[in-house]
Amino acid sequence: METRTKIALVTGGSRGLGKNSAIKIAQKGLDVIITYKSNKEEADKVVEEIKALGRKAIAYQLDTKDVKSFDAFVKTVGDHLEENTGSRNIDFLVNNAGTALYMPIPDVTEEQLDDMVDIHFKGVFFLTQKFLPFMNDNGGIINLSSGLARFAMPGSSVYGSMKAAIDQLSKYMAKELGPRKIKVNAVAPGAIETDFGGGRTRDDKNANAMVSNNTALGRAGLPDDIGGVVAFLCTEDARWITAQRIEVSGGMFF
Ligand SMILES: NC(=O)c1ccc[n+]([C@@H]2O[C@H](COP(=O)([O-])OP(=O)(O)OC[C@H]3O[C@@H](n4cnc5c(N)ncnc54)[C@H](OP(=O)(O)O)[C@@H]3O)[C@@H](O)[C@H]2O)c1
Repeated sequence: METRTKIALVTGGSRGLGKNSAIKIAQKGLDVIITYKSNKEEADKVVEEIKALGRKAIAYQLDTKDVKSFDAFVKTVGDHLEENTGSRNIDFLVNNAGTALYMPIPDVTEEQLDDMVDIHFKGVFFLTQKFLPFMNDNGGIINLSSGLARFAMPGSSVYGSMKAAIDQLSKYMAKELGPRKIKVNAVAPGAIETDFGGGRTRDDKNANAMVSNNTALGRAGLPDDIGGVVAFLCTEDARWITAQRIEVSGGMFF
């Protein structure tokens, strides 16, 4: 039985689902690296919360849209890990960072579409590619998908399509990384009360009621409903789960 402390890297760990996942992963006994885009203060609070659990944590700035910055980022993380653990490698990569776009098809601009492709697909693809040489075998990758990859809601054509691409990409990653025993799964939340999309599910009473009325368990999701599932996938108990899309939506629109 391996006793080495495993390391997970969670993108977008400063707020919402990434924050909750990072803390739940730490509760499972892993050390955690989080990234943030601009919210250093919130990221530092998450680091402190994780350290209070007795785990190691550090936060780095990363724009997952900026593929050209990834080599330098992977080097920074590797240098830090080598100094502190003797190895440059991580065990789990959680591709969580993301932003919303609610826009009817006639109004979507090329810039908005490019943004969604860059954040939700290209960034996930290349960040994973860059970390592959620095991931331990037997580890895992968790890509955040969405209920919107399965059902359609007006205004989410671009975002939902990117998340559908993530579902399929996760299967391809699972296929190609299987020989290294790296498990790859997509976790697909339903509508969750976070800052996402201007906090729409949390703050807009009508949006929240619509979600609740169309969810078997009768309410919108909370970050706490999601992080534990991501954390479970970073444990030995989940070692036989790969190539799956795991929807965590309380039964939304089925
Ligand atoms: N909330 C939902 O209803 C829902 C449902 C299904 C799927 N999801 C997916 O779950 C993931 C997390 O969503 P959330 O609800 O936790 O969102 P959130 O509360 O808005 O948090 C977004 C996180 O991503 C980071 N981020 C945003 N843009 C980034 C970029 N370009 N580069 C790097 N980091 C970036 C933010 O960093 P800063 O704090 O520095 O800004 C923050 O940590 C996303 O992939 C989202 O698509 C969310």
